[in-house]
Amino acid sequence: MNRFFIFGTFTNAMVHRMTHSRARIGKAIIPAAGLGTRFLPATKATPKEMLPVVDKPAIQYVVEEAVAADLSDVLMITGRNKRPLEDHFDRNYELEEALTRKGDDGRLARVRESSDLATMHYVRQGDPKGLGHAVLCAEPHVGNEPFAVLLGDDLIDPRDPLLSRMIDVQGRFGGSVIALMEVAPEQIHLYGAAAIKPTDEVDVVRVTDLVEKPDAGQAPSNFAVIGRYVLDPAVFDAIRKTEPGRNGEIQLTDALRELSHRDADGGPVHGVVFTGRRYDTGDRGDYLRAIVRLACERDDLGPEFRNWLRTYVTEEMQE
Ligand code: G1P
Repeated sequence: MNRFFIFGTFTNAMVHRMTHSRARIGKAIIPAAGLGTRFLPATKATPKEMLPVVDKPAIQYVVEEAVAADLSDVLMITGRNKRPLEDHFDRNYELEEALTRKGDDGRLARVRESSDLATMHYVRQGDPKGLGHAVLCAEPHVGNEPFAVLLGDDLIDPRDPLLSRMIDVQGRFGGSVIALMEVAPEQIHLYGAAAIKPTDEVDVVRVTDLVEKPDAGQAPSNFAVIGRYVLDPAVFDAIRKTEPGRNGEIQLTDALRELSHRDADGGPVHGVVFTGRRYDTGDRGDYLRAIVRLACERDDLGPEFRNWLRTYVTEEMQE
């Protein structure tokens, strides 16, 4: 006898959740082909992803976040001048040998951390035609299973595990899941903006529409898309059908808009509303705030740095 018959009273949504194939999500895609113009001249010859946040490149936090959510297969979408990214996640035998000779085990461990972290893969985007196009470059690697996308500019505090929550929500609701954060109305034009409806879980909403970087007064809400996505592979076809949008680029938001109107085949799209700590390391002010906060919280640097900061701020306020 059919189990749905036995229990009798399931709603369509419940049946969908129960019968949805729960492929384990194991792959993370990190688009890293951007030019980093906001940080020139620092990014003239160095990828923006390599800029240090305290003493680790910003991109390492992002890979660590993927690994913490059990995604140890990482594909980076790179472009020209991005070789240092590959070198950072690879072994550096000369350096390791020099540190071994010196008996500097602490630094040796720090150097090896990044190469032992995950199984790294790289593919070049070629033409920088936008975020949607970058994600499409991952299709041969991803195949036909749900996967995660992490944008390098968004740094999520490791104590606020957003990605695991999104994977959990995708497993139960199916379709695709994006991360949303409420921002001030004057900030929403910098992001994808979502039209949403509540669900019976307090931090989960149904996304009913999306607009990439809306003009002033045109945003459907103040809920901004932040750079974490758990996507159904149907997104690849949706991207292929997506016309160039904002800035003449193939936008991931536009492909997701299409999925948000579906009940299956890549949809529905749900949003996990994030209220934790997030830094936009692509913005100079937020980049500085991330460094100050993370430095203050470090056991090795924090106590001395906090003391200095207190004195500095007191002096500043007296001027
Ligand atoms: C991208 C997305 C946008 C999203 C943002 C989050 O824009 O296109 O929808 O809100 O990331 O950081 P970018 O900031 O790369 O222009």
